[in-house]
Amino acid sequence: MTFRIAHISDVHLAPLPPAKLSEMISKRIVGYNSWKFRRQAIHDPRVAGAIVEDIKATQPDHTMVTGDLVNIALPGEFINGKKWLQGLGRPDLVSFVPGNHDAYVAVPWAQGMGHLGDYMTGDLTVPGAATTPEIAMPFPYVRQRRNIALVGVSTAVPTLPGYATGDLGPAQMEALANILKNLRTKGFYRILMIHHPPLPGLARKRKALTDAQDLKHILDDEGCDLVVHGHNHVAMHNTLNSRYGSVHILGVPSATSNGARNTQPAAWNEYHIRRASGRWKCTVNTRCWDEEKSGFVTQTGYSLD
Ligand SMILES: [Fe+2]
Ligand SMILES: [Fe+2]
Repeated sequence: MTFRIAHISDVHLAPLPPAKLSEMISKRIVGYNSWKFRRQAIHDPRVAGAIVEDIKATQPDHTMVTGDLVNIALPGEFINGKKWLQGLGRPDLVSFVPGNHDAYVAVPWAQGMGHLGDYMTGDLTVPGAATTPEIAMPFPYVRQRRNIALVGVSTAVPTLPGYATGDLGPAQMEALANILKNLRTKGFYRILMIHHPPLPGLARKRKALTDAQDLKHILDDEGCDLVVHGHNHVAMHNTLNSRYGSVHILGVPSATSNGARNTQPAAWNEYHIRRASGRWKCTVNTRCWDEEKSGFVTQTGYSLD
């Protein structure tokens, strides 16, 4: 039986809700200006609606959303973000991990990412994995869907203006190593969901994952079948040769880009995963926004084997 799983990232949901003057603190002013003078023209509510319809039309078994749901982490953006996720599917059918824009400034859990807790709740008990969203750091979490394990981590940390770096930190790093090992010995197809590109050199320094080298060591040592990420707003495909075979690392453009200002138009990947003759098989179909057709079209389809 084939398991079909969709991946999108970097929703940057528009429009921005009205903000109180008291909420326009420090970095949010920079972010608001960036939104007004650049990002507003790119992240298009038409595309945000169309990508939901396009994914739902294919009725995937699951959908992964790898962060940057919001823009400047206003409390109102999280409420809108939750509604948008609910349009995509129930929390048991959609998994979310946060990105740097979801932690644009420090926001109390209950007023920020806590709204999305149901979409970040683990249901597989593995040593090191969290199974409740009722705490401010439910990562890593693991969800089991058939013989596939979805591992969600957070790289979302508030940074200084001008920076979009991410950080896993030693606690998540150690837990992730144990989780990947445990899941490997149990024979799961392992998918890691992470916002920032996971290896050194895949993002510019001011936007990179600061502990990517440590994560590379873990992926080298424990293997992982598939890593999905966002953040760079471009389609990416890298492969790492680990002790336990190829780690396929794929990123997608922003889910809401209309292609303005030389950005890559929105796209989403659909993975078809199955087990055949004792081996995992995975193929990828990419659906891409076509501004002229005002809809998504199939761009490519290929095998990861
Ligand atoms: Fe983003
Ligand atoms: Fe990002």
